[in-house]
Amino acid sequence: MSQTTRLPETMAQRHLALRVMMMPKDTNVHGTIFGGVLLSHIDQAGVIGAAHALAQAGWPVPPLVTVAMNQVEFHHAVLVGDVVSFWTNVIRVGRTSITVRVSVETEREGKTLVVTQAQITYVAVDLESWPRRPVPIRPAGPPED
Ligand SMILES: CC(C)(COP(=O)(O)OP(=O)(O)OC[C@H]1O[C@@H](n2cnc3c(N)ncnc32)[C@H](O)[C@@H]1OP(=O)(O)O)[C@@H](O)C(=O)NCCC(=O)NCCS
Repeated sequence: MSQTTRLPETMAQRHLALRVMMMPKDTNVHGTIFGGVLLSHIDQAGVIGAAHALAQAGWPVPPLVTVAMNQVEFHHAVLVGDVVSFWTNVIRVGRTSITVRVSVETEREGKTLVVTQAQITYVAVDLESWPRRPVPIRPAGPPED
């Protein structure tokens, strides 16, 4: 069951989780930015955005691990020297997981260009268990009607 209906409003707000200038070391054999570099930043931005959203809502911030990266779309090539912004917003909170949309944007000729988008799901885990055990992500409280 989706539990998005009772999410605090702040969770849906866009958050600038990360801003990075792309360097020559980040390129692929074609001279544009390697997709894996962007994926790494997306993963990092997503967890920063998820933790920010949980904290803004006044919820505990548990250890989060990445369980899935979905709907990754590279719309435009990213170039050396591009300053790339990673915007996040929460799109779902389940029992143990939180899913964040990451929009990767840069400026071209004064206009914002969405270069890449992705949806990342993180799971709250108990770091004391092995294999890691998912734990509830929502704060304990009285049952809602
Ligand atoms: C994350 C992990 C603890 C989940 O364990 P699991 O036994 O698969 O857990 P569950 O099947 O109970 O699923 C846990 C949550 O993840 C969600 N989930 C599992 N697989 C998913 C997938 N492919 N896509 C989206 N969500 C997924 C489930 O829907 C569930 O969410 P909910 O409780 O909010 O409904 C385990 O898969 C793991 O340790 N993976 C490796 C994590 C890792 O090392 N990541 C890279 C570095 S951070």
